[in-house]
Amino acid sequence: MNKADTSSSTVVIAIDGPAASGKSTVARALAAHLGYRFLNSGDLYRAITWGCLSHGVDCRDTGAVAMAVGNSHVEVGCDGTEYYPIVDGTDPRVHLRHAAVNANVSPVSAVPAVRYILSAAIRAHAQGRRTVVEGRDIGSAVFPETPYKFYIDAPAQVRQRRRRNQGQTEEIAKRDLIDSTRSTDPLTIAPGATVIDSSTLDVEGVVAAMVEKLRAQGLVFDRTRR
Ligand code: DC
Repeated sequence: MNKADTSSSTVVIAIDGPAASGKSTVARALAAHLGYRFLNSGDLYRAITWGCLSHGVDCRDTGAVAMAVGNSHVEVGCDGTEYYPIVDGTDPRVHLRHAAVNANVSPVSAVPAVRYILSAAIRAHAQGRRTVVEGRDIGSAVFPETPYKFYIDAPAQVRQRRRRNQGQTEEIAKRDLIDSTRSTDPLTIAPGATVIDSSTLDVEGVVAAMVEKLRAQGLVFDRTRR
């Protein structure tokens, strides 16, 4: 698919940010508010990581990961409002936040072949639709042409505390470092993105700030179609 899709029926709201910045929660809430579909691209990267781990692939071995992803069948399902990953016919959602996936998802995501396959799948599913897409490179690399870009951030201690409160012990600083320094499509604030600090607002507050910005940009909300 053409990366610079300008079809008038396609509307993408890109939401990027580091781990535990709260972007999934606000992206889902914004999509529900607008009547858009929601695509959590991190879940696709987690699903591929889970697939590699299930097949005993060494996730630090770039060549082995590239070969494994080339041999697997990655699909994107939709339950009506939300997209979800399917790997070799299995819906892996219950496994996506396991410690082994947390520990290996950043190195797997840094493999260019993985990014190529998933970026193409994400673009294909957004084509002709209205979608809130969240991730690390959505505004900078997957949909650089969209005018609707947000970067959700929060201080590192706040983000680490959020994960602890969710019962997770992962070191998000390690993941942030790999995600923001990899050579292909690293985490970055896309040019033109509106930065919102989620530590000073609740979910409704972040969504309200986004809606205000989108209205100011001239986005017309029509809840009759996704
Ligand atoms: O949003 P998350 O924490 O579930 O994402 C998991 C990992 O997936 C993240 O550490 C990096 C990778 N990722 C990515 O590289 N590009 C994206 N667009 C989304 C996620």
